[in-house]
Amino acid sequence: MSIKKLAFSGVQPTGNLHLGNYLGALTNFVSLQKEMECIFCVVDLHAITTFQNPKELKQNIFETTAAFLAIGLDENKNIIFNQSSVSGHAELAWILNCVSRIGWLNRMTQFKDKAGSDKEKASVGLYIYPNLMAADILLYKATHVPVGADQKQHLELCRDVAQKFNKDFKSENFFPIPEPLIQKNISRVMSLRDGTKKMSKSEESDYSRIDLKDSADEIVKKIKKAKTDSSPIPGQEKELEKRPEALNLLKIYADLKKTPIQKILSEMEGKEFSFLKNKLSDSLVATICPVGKKIKELIDDKAYLEQVLNKGREKALKKAEENLKKIREIVGLL
Ligand code: AMP
Ligand code: TRP
Repeated sequence: MSIKKLAFSGVQPTGNLHLGNYLGALTNFVSLQKEMECIFCVVDLHAITTFQNPKELKQNIFETTAAFLAIGLDENKNIIFNQSSVSGHAELAWILNCVSRIGWLNRMTQFKDKAGSDKEKASVGLYIYPNLMAADILLYKATHVPVGADQKQHLELCRDVAQKFNKDFKSENFFPIPEPLIQKNISRVMSLRDGTKKMSKSEESDYSRIDLKDSADEIVKKIKKAKTDSSPIPGQEKELEKRPEALNLLKIYADLKKTPIQKILSEMEGKEFSFLKNKLSDSLVATICPVGKKIKELIDDKAYLEQVLNKGREKALKKAEENLKKIREIVGLL
């Protein structure tokens, strides 16, 4: 019997969503909702693994919900809710903490990056963050997980945890082994200041990223200032191997235009980067500004956003409780 497809993904409410989130994950959500049942979660419990100002966190939960709706996710067709409103996430995370291995967590590169040089001072939550992510996915027995390339290692850990649970408790096939769905053309959008680093909310300079709420002027300014090199646009992609900033801008443009990068290179070969930058700014303004405008409109309607989250919570809770009942039984909890 083939199992029913179900997608789950989460986005942390930790501040402005940016072009990396948009091209790396959110656009994938939009197409996926046409193909299968989907659950989109504002993962507030993940956000607090690093300290969040409580007032800002609340506002960011609303804003991430608004962004889900602004990009075109259908609140009736999909389940949209915030993680902490379904306590089963935390309960299953505890059970999985007892299945997952310290050695596995020690390999997680995101922990190493986020904890920085003084790992003793990082929160325990940050360390076991991947187990909570596994709980998010497995609580609903999700089969597909659309994410950016930076989450691939966490997904592999989730697969290992699911397999070990099934094996340890002799419940073969209880948890499906979820498939990552990672964008092919642009799985990692890089910083506009340094093409070797991913575009991220935590990078200090605003000029390193395009935020979904940026105005047209800000977008144009940021692209104008984006780092490139002095060589013109080459004719072949392999000539971009040692030019990470140039490659990043071209990949973003190709993705926005839904055109293979090689076709863009053939058309633009020999031109200066200022030529690409003008076209890229226009495309970004056309794509991003309407989304930003919609987010700003929706964020003022808290009653509506609360209603969306409550409706999502009801649906998520029902599924979570059904699965948790079975999980408690399997583990031997009363
Ligand atoms: P986060 O804001 O960390 O919760 O990320 C939300 C989603 O955006 C996840 O699926 C990430 O993998 C994805 N993402 C974040 N930054 C980038 C980036 N620079 N390039 C591609 N995808 C990204
Ligand atoms: N860790 C993910 C990120 O930082 C967010 C996340 C939490 C997630 N739980 C998830 C993504 C479950 C996919 C599935 O981007």
